[in-house]
Order: sequence, then C-alpha cells, then structure tokens
Amino acid sequence: MSKILLAGATGYLGGFILKELLRKGFETKALVRNEKKLPEGCLAHPKLELIKAEITNRDALKDCCRDIDVVISTVGITRQKDGLTYMDVDYQANLNLLEEAKRNGVEKFIYISVLNGEKLTHLKICEAKEKFVWALKNSGLDYCIIRPTGYFSDMGEFFEMAKKGRIYLFGNGEHRMNPIHGADLAAVCVNAVVSGEKEILAGGPEILSHNQMAETAFSIAVKKPKITHIPNWLTKSLLFLIRTCTGSKTYGPIEFFITVLSRDMIAPEYGNHTLKEYFKEIKLHNQFKS
Ligand SMILES: NC(=O)c1ccc[n+]([C@@H]2O[C@H](COP(=O)([O-])OP(=O)(O)OC[C@H]3O[C@@H](n4cnc5c(N)ncnc54)[C@H](OP(=O)(O)O)[C@@H]3O)[C@@H](O)[C@H]2O)c1
Repeated sequence: MSKILLAGATGYLGGFILKELLRKGFETKALVRNEKKLPEGCLAHPKLELIKAEITNRDALKDCCRDIDVVISTVGITRQKDGLTYMDVDYQANLNLLEEAKRNGVEKFIYISVLNGEKLTHLKICEAKEKFVWALKNSGLDYCIIRPTGYFSDMGEFFEMAKKGRIYLFGNGEHRMNPIHGADLAAVCVNAVVSGEKEILAGGPEILSHNQMAETAFSIAVKKPKITHIPNWLTKSLLFLIRTCTGSKTYGPIEFFITVLSRDMIAPEYGNHTLKEYFKEIKLHNQFKS
C-alpha cells in the first residue's frame, strides 16, 4: 500500500482527506505548521506521523518525502492572513514540496487547483495555481490535478446571510453550480492515489442556481426569503474600485469570489452530501454553541 505525504491537513479539505486516508489504512505523514488544527481524533492515530515545518521554507522540507510514494497537497491561501501572496504559497510553497518529492523519488503528486483555473489566469489566485500546475505537468512525476467547484465550507455564507434576513447575490441569481462537501471531495482525492486519471473535474451531487441555494438557506434558517440581486454593472464598478484602491492581498480573494459567482461552475457529480443537510448541520452546531 502506498505511503502518503499530505500537506494541508489542517484545512477544510485536507482534514477530510486525512480522515479518509486513515480510514482506508494508508500510512500517512502530515506536513503541518500547527498540529492543534488537525481534525479531532487524528493526532493519536497509529498510522499518522507528523512533520512540523513551514512549507514556504524550502530548507525546512529537507527529507520530508523520504519513503513517500504519493504526495497530496491542498495547500493554498483561502482566508489566511500571513502577509504572503498567492505566488508565495499556491505556487512557490507547492513547488518547494514538488522539488523535494522529485529529489526523494516520489511516484505521484496530487494537487488541488480549481475548476476552470486554466481559463481564469487573469485572477491572481488562478495565475499562481496554474503556474504550479504547469510545473507539475512538466516535472516528470506521475500526477493528478483535481479541479473542484466551490466547497460547502464557502456556501455557509448563504446560511449566515439567511439568518440575518437578507441574501445578496451577483446578477440575477440564475447562475448554477454544484458545490461539493469536503468528505465527498476527499474520497475523489484519495481514489486518485491509484486511478490513472491526470485531471479530475469534481462537483457535488446537486446542480443548483444561486437563487435555489438562497431559498434552501432561508428554509433552514426559517426566515422569509429576501434576496437582493446586485446588478452586473455595479459588481464590475465595485471590482474596479477595489482593484484600484487596495493591494493584491485584499482584492485577490474578492475578485476570485465575485468571478466564480458570476458564471456557471458545474463539474461531473460526485458524492451524496446535500446543501440542505449541510445547512441543517450548521444550524445544529450554532444551537449547540449558544
Ligand atoms: N474553498 C473553495 O471553494 C475552493 C474551491 C476550489 C479550490 N479550492 C482550493 O482547494 C485548496 C484547499 O482549500 P480549503 O478550503 O481546504 O483551504 P483551507 O481550509 O484554508 O486550507 C488550506 C491549507 O493550506 C495551508 N496554508 C495556507 N497558507 C499557508 C502558509 N503560508 N504556510 C503553510 N501552510 C499554509 C493551511 O495551513 P494552516 O491551517 O496552518 O493555515 C491549510 O492547511 C486551496 O488551495 C483552495 O484554493 C478551494
């Protein structure tokens, strides 16, 4: 059975991948900078080995891939505020790991990019991710690039807005997507360890318009639906203003978010988790906390 090095296990998707790897019996090394953020119950697992290192520091990675057959990386900036750019992390940090993988004779590298990333390289995040994809494709290693739609973790915003009584959507709300739950996507990533596919586009089991997602959120929040549709001209003006007045670390995530919500994001369907169930889970979690 392959031995895996997982980078990103302290994040949303990486946490589910770690659980899936351990459930399937893979010997797993997790490369982390803060082990306290690992999913509950994993830290003491007998098949888990920890390496504490900064992936952005090439020297710190020395020998992390020794005896490793397959590397999986979900490392990338989402909400982190470390003062680093997408080029520092999504590209360079993953490249550091790729170089170390090559040096240690790793067979395969599995990387998480984003659906349509190769067509969106004018966005800072996609420019960095696709630069890494290019390096990986030319590395000589076997590889698999996973291209997911949006994650359920981000769809939680719909529920948060619904609780407050109004949801803001870009355009007329009729763009559609099939977001995917971390557990469903983790199963796709772990299957990629043995599958021969080089590129996997992945979305969840339900294709919904933004209006339908909003209605689902209101029904679980038990609030009367109130949706404000932000016209495209206003979105474009806002984006221009943010691009002009802020640095790339601020506008990068905003331009990505607005761009993917201003188009259809539909990929082949995987898994069985529904958004309705996810919103119910958040609601239960919130009730438990308060
Ligand atoms: N969210 C979406 O809808 C979506 C859709 C398509 C693709 N993606 C991509 O999928 C990947 C995983 O997303 P996610 O939602 O699981 O992200 P996440 O929860 O933010 O996890 C990202 C991981 O990267 C690590 N990381 C980030 N900056 C780092 C740095 N400077 N040094 C070391 N480690 C760093 C984080 O470590 P710490 O925990 O220590 O911060 C974490 O383990 C990302 O590359 C994202 O761009 C996301």
